[in-house]
Amino acid sequence: MPKRFSTLGRYPSTRLRRNRREDWSRRLVAEHKLSVDDLIWPVFVQEGKNARTPVDSMPGVDRLSVDLLVDAVKEARDLGIPAVALFPETDPKSKTPDGREAYNPGNLVCRATTAVKKAVPDIGIMTDVALDPFNSDGHDGIVRDGYVQNDETLDALIKQAIVQTEAGADIQAPSDMMDGRIGAIRKALDGKGFIHAQIMSYAAKYASAFYNPFRDAIGSSGALKGDKKTYQMDYANSDEALREVGFDIEEGADMVMVKPGLPYLDIVHRVKESFGVPTYAYQVSGEYAMLRGAADRGWLDWDKVLIETLTSFKRAGCDGILTYGAVDAARLLKSK
Ligand code: PBG
Repeated sequence: MPKRFSTLGRYPSTRLRRNRREDWSRRLVAEHKLSVDDLIWPVFVQEGKNARTPVDSMPGVDRLSVDLLVDAVKEARDLGIPAVALFPETDPKSKTPDGREAYNPGNLVCRATTAVKKAVPDIGIMTDVALDPFNSDGHDGIVRDGYVQNDETLDALIKQAIVQTEAGADIQAPSDMMDGRIGAIRKALDGKGFIHAQIMSYAAKYASAFYNPFRDAIGSSGALKGDKKTYQMDYANSDEALREVGFDIEEGADMVMVKPGLPYLDIVHRVKESFGVPTYAYQVSGEYAMLRGAADRGWLDWDKVLIETLTSFKRAGCDGILTYGAVDAARLLKSK
């Protein structure tokens, strides 16, 4: 991309519509291209067998039991999707204030990971590192004295990252926003000999109202008291995102993520320009709900807005995108 426009050209010798006139020409001058290789598919997992429960606030998205998850991941692999991100819906009976179910090696997400890795070894598996699916307060960390405790939470996150890696997950994705978590997790993984375990840090994660449907999907909305503003970022801030990303790279993150996606593409752009590291964004549940909800009413064309928004992420500087529309997008890209 030109950094400076020294030769602008002038109408009528220059007509910018010339290059846009034919489809072949538009393809020839296209600056960015969305490919199936850019997609990460987040999937919700539930207990049971042959069980599938629709998520009301995310039309078209179901929670899947492990057996159905394996089939779904096979399909994603066959479409060429490089990686999936697994999120468990935890039985409320297993939720405690310390979220210890997070590091139970027999928990749902670990069982799901092992089953998927065995059946579909050639797709990447990403697991979240945060306590919210397991914490009776619905928070990403341990709450004491009305405050999410940073360093105490790190101990739990380390254990969670280790059991998930032992279960077969390839990428640990800390989404908790505790200070120092990336360094602590990297050190613990290395200490266990998991030198190849990758870390995709939710580096610039904002306290956003766009996560509500996700919290319905994993069943944490009922539990959550208050908000996550003492650890997730203030959406008024942009320079602070660069500090977060910089810290995470120094601490050993292999890839960094900005979240949410579409309303935060300015942050993606700054991150990619400033650091030039593998950069991702998450088209989150609320963004999905907005587009799908409107499309289901006939107000938007789902296929078109999906590809348009995902291409916008690429244009902003993303190397890849987490999207609930990954399978739909992969099919559309294939049929083109
Ligand atoms: C939890 C987590 C959240 C998401 C991914 N990991 C929610 C939250 O922080 O409350 C949101 C994903 C989405 O909305 O699609 N640590």
